[in-house]
Amino acid sequence: MMKKRALFLALAVAALCALPLLASCSGGGSSDTVEPAADGSYALVEDGKLTVAASLDFPPFENLNNGNVEGFEVDLMKAIAEQLGLECNYLPTMKFDTIIPALVAGGTADVGVSGFTITPEREEEVDFSTPFCDTNQCIVVLNGSDITDESQLAGKRIGAETGTTGLTWSKENLSDAQEIVAFDEYPAVFAALQSGQVAAAVLDKPVADYYIKIAYSDCQVVKEIPTGEQYGIAVSKENPNLTAAINDAIAALEADGTIAELNQKWFGN
Ligand code: ARG
Repeated sequence: MMKKRALFLALAVAALCALPLLASCSGGGSSDTVEPAADGSYALVEDGKLTVAASLDFPPFENLNNGNVEGFEVDLMKAIAEQLGLECNYLPTMKFDTIIPALVAGGTADVGVSGFTITPEREEEVDFSTPFCDTNQCIVVLNGSDITDESQLAGKRIGAETGTTGLTWSKENLSDAQEIVAFDEYPAVFAALQSGQVAAAVLDKPVADYYIKIAYSDCQVVKEIPTGEQYGIAVSKENPNLTAAINDAIAALEADGTIAELNQKWFGN
């Protein structure tokens, strides 16, 4: 008798505890639980504007040049905003690894655009637009270094940017490195190479190439790592209609040649 009552009590408590859990699950969080509005409408942080969160340390995709935001992705976002009848508004630069958490929390930006590689881990937190750029990692060293390959990185200090696929690749593939050091911005990784704090860096190749050309001519790319990454625009999972509208805009900009023009403008190809 006693036993039965205890069991009943335990079941009742379990049922009560499960209630708030169920309620919060149906509140959304994953794309399968969010019902996109049938009229295609989407939420915006600020009416009439497409608010963009970015880490402005990533030329030629996004960078500050004399106080102006410029780059391939900046032009792309302006063109997408125009397609949507919105004004494109870049927020002040944010640390790269804070952008996805800000999108998940909501209220700061509508999209995150910062050379974001589409990865299965990130896709659990946010949705991505269709990809618009292919990229690989690479190993950067100081000119005159005898490192030419990842096999020579054992016992060395390696630099990468916090929260990036370059850092993840380094942790997964350079297990006999002396230390893998994370920096907040790409220029800080180059500065660490120049000061000898790290012997090599693992960075997105198009951006490493560009930085070496415009600023760090004492560094060089010695090895491309074929990680086969693709960049996409990150959007909250709560806003699937915005992702759909952005994808329509990207398709239109592919079709009318705008994306080809931007490739020509920023990469000469
Ligand atoms: N593509 C890499 C990643 O997604 C690096 C992106 C870094 N972006 C930046 N704006 N610093 O992890």
